[in-house]
Amino acid sequence: MEIPVIDMEKFGLREGSDNLIKLSECLDQAFTKTGCARLVNHGITTQQIENVYAGSSLFFNLPDELKKRYRFVGLEDSTVGYIGLGTERYGEKQDLHEGYLIRTAEDLPGKDLTAEDLPGKDLPAEDLPGKDLPAEDLPGKDLPGKDLVPGWRIATESLHTSLKILSSVILDALSLAIGKERDYLASLHHSEGDKKSFKLLRMAHYPPTNPDAAQTSIRFDEHCDFNTFTLLLQDNMGGLQGRDNDGNWFDLTPEPDSIILLAAQFIQFYSNEKYKALRHRVIIPEEEVKCRHSRYSIIYFVNADGHIPAWPTTATHLPQPPPNVQDHLMSVLVNPVN
Ligand SMILES: [Fe+2]
Repeated sequence: MEIPVIDMEKFGLREGSDNLIKLSECLDQAFTKTGCARLVNHGITTQQIENVYAGSSLFFNLPDELKKRYRFVGLEDSTVGYIGLGTERYGEKQDLHEGYLIRTAEDLPGKDLTAEDLPGKDLPAEDLPGKDLPAEDLPGKDLPGKDLVPGWRIATESLHTSLKILSSVILDALSLAIGKERDYLASLHHSEGDKKSFKLLRMAHYPPTNPDAAQTSIRFDEHCDFNTFTLLLQDNMGGLQGRDNDGNWFDLTPEPDSIILLAAQFIQFYSNEKYKALRHRVIIPEEEVKCRHSRYSIIYFVNADGHIPAWPTTATHLPQPPPNVQDHLMSVLVNPVN
C-alpha cells in the first residue's frame, strides 16, 4: 500500500487560499483512497520531537509506584495523567502499552498565534514558544515536575503548540475538502478559552517484550480513533499498521521527521462517510531486536469541542439525536470503539 505523502512546505502556510485549496485536494485524495497520509516538511523540528521522547523515556522508566501517583483522573482537569500498562484493552489480546495523556491547556504559550503568524518551519528550536518560561510558571502544572523528569513539560508544551498550529491548517483545508467554508471545522474546534475543548496529546510507551508474546498480546489492538483526525509521531521501532478497504493490513513504516495523519470518526461522519476512519493497530515486531526494545510515540488527537454533536443530525444511519462530543468521548473511553 502506497501511503500518500503530503509535503506541507509546498503549500507555504503564509501564502493564501490558493495553496489551501491545493492542500485540501491532496487531503481529499489521501482520505478517500487510504484514510491516512504521511506529512513531511511540516515545520516541527527533530529536536522538538526528540526532547519529548527523552522526557518520555525518563518518565516511563520510573518505578510503577511513582508513575501511579500521576494516574489518569478523568477529563475534567486540564491534565489527565498516566494510563498504566494493562489498564486499556481493545480486543482479545492483552494490550502492551502505557501512556500519559494531557488535554490542550487554554493558556499554553503561543495560544494567540495563528497558522499565518507562525508556520514554524523557519523557526530554530530555541525560538519556539515557551523557551523563556521557567517550568514552574507554565500551565500543565500537574505534569510530573522538572525534578522528576527534567525538561519533559517544556518540551511537551513546545511540541503541543506546534502540533496545534499544524492541525489548524489541516482543519481549514479539510473544511474546503468537505465543501464547507474555510473556517467551518475551526468553528467546531475552538479550544482557546473554552474548557470544553478535547484536543488531547498522548505520550505513549510500548515496553520491551519477547517474540512469543505476540501469541497472546499486541502492543495496541486494532481500533478507529473517534476524534476528528490524529497526528502520530513514532520512533523507528515500527509495528504501526493500517487496514485497507479489503481488510488487509499494511505497514505505516517510520520515516524520519514525518508525521502520520489518520482520518478518524468525526471527519468520517461530517464528510457524509466520504472519508473512512482508518482502522489501525501496533503489532509486536517479528524482528527480535525490535520487540526487545522500547517503542515510543506521540499522538495528537484533534477533537471537536465538547458540546458539538458527535455526528450530524442529518446522518440517517446513526442514532438520533447524536450525543455530544464530550459524552461520546467518555463513553468510548470506558468502552473502547472497535
Ligand atoms: Fe489510535
